[in-house]
Amino acid sequence: MKKILITGGAGFIGSHVVRLFVNKYPDYQIFNLDKLTYAGNLENLKDIENKANYKFVKGDITDADFINNLFQQEKFDAVIHLAAESHVDRSISNPLEFVQTNVIGTVNLLNVAKHAWGCSKDKSLPADKKFYHVSTDEVYGSLGDEGLFTEETAYDPHSPYSASKAASDHFVRAYFDTYNLPVVISNCSNNYGPNHFPEKLIPLCIHNIKNNKPLPIYGKGENVRDWLFVEDHANAIDVIFHNAKLGSTYNIGGHNEWTNIDVIRLLCKIMDKKLGRAAGENEKLITFVKDRAGHDLRYAIDSSKLQNELGWKPSLQFEEGLGKTVDWYLANEEWLSHVTSGDYQKYYEQQYVTR
Ligand code: NAD
Ligand code: DAU
Repeated sequence: MKKILITGGAGFIGSHVVRLFVNKYPDYQIFNLDKLTYAGNLENLKDIENKANYKFVKGDITDADFINNLFQQEKFDAVIHLAAESHVDRSISNPLEFVQTNVIGTVNLLNVAKHAWGCSKDKSLPADKKFYHVSTDEVYGSLGDEGLFTEETAYDPHSPYSASKAASDHFVRAYFDTYNLPVVISNCSNNYGPNHFPEKLIPLCIHNIKNNKPLPIYGKGENVRDWLFVEDHANAIDVIFHNAKLGSTYNIGGHNEWTNIDVIRLLCKIMDKKLGRAAGENEKLITFVKDRAGHDLRYAIDSSKLQNELGWKPSLQFEEGLGKTVDWYLANEEWLSHVTSGDYQKYYEQQYVTR
């Protein structure tokens, strides 16, 4: 029996990881610790909330006493750490919140795990424990037209978000080197799929197409992202969690590079058909707006280490995955209306003023 603490499990990727682990490993006890910020939503986990091996705990990873007490009480064998502030645009307007959660919150968890597991350089690595830190390809910075990020690429973060994630990755490795904390890190490319908060490019545009609202494309739409279906990321996390050597790092990505404008044109085409609109109708909503400050030009992941060593590979083609994603948003109007009530409108009004 393994007791696993998953942080940020009510968010986009975390909810898919929690669901996968709860359903696939009935012998594990899964604790989902989440602060339920604007991005955390327990509706994402309705289908598993009553399972015997699942428990939700509301709490903040920056609260040292709370985390410490929880560890004392539950004696976790492993942590899968996803809790974070995750949106680059929000990090530009409020960097300190990103330092607080992504850096301080991560170091806080590392400290508590180190203490609870009695880790020290004088003792060997505890092979029955694991601290898995989920990170991003944005720590590597920006590529030109050629090349891919590998696990050896030097860190070069540009946004406050990616700087905070880079700092957290460095702390995780420092705890391995200094205290023999048994860690694993993965750095993944852009995810898309169900439960994605409609502030990120794809779900925002699905929401706006549905409501005949402008589709804001930063700059000329020439920036490139490498898109991966969120369930493929969750599967990669499962494979890495169970098989990676302690202290190792794996890149995760879909070999699926698209310029933003091409992603949105494809989405418009898919949604013309699904909404019964005339061909080309949705593309009329595309609106070029002021570019994001410090906007990274291109991300692209070399995931051959993960594919060759651990046998993982992405399962879905982009067009199929986007179609599935659109179907999910069209079928889950209530979810969408809940997450876009409250402060959502205010946030977007502010966004447009600054651009
Ligand atoms: P998200 O914003 O959808 O979810 C984050 C979750 O963390 C939310 O449920 C939120 O309530 C929770 N949270 C935030 N602050 C917290 C705190 N102080 N204490 C406890 N819980 C807190 O994010 P996501 O897109 O699902 O990303 C999850 C992780 O994966 C992040 O670490 C992110 O950096 C990383 N990542 C994301 C992507 C992507 O494309 N979305 C790609 C690679 C890596
Ligand atoms: O690469 C992994 C990262 O992907 C994760 O670590 C982050 O948590 C996640 O948010 C995502 O970051 P991006 O900044 O790449 O994602 P976002 O959806 O915000 O933007 C995707 C691209 O689309 C990017 O080039 C900016 C652009 N964009 C975004 C928005 C919100 C627009 O053109 N218009 C928009 O309105």
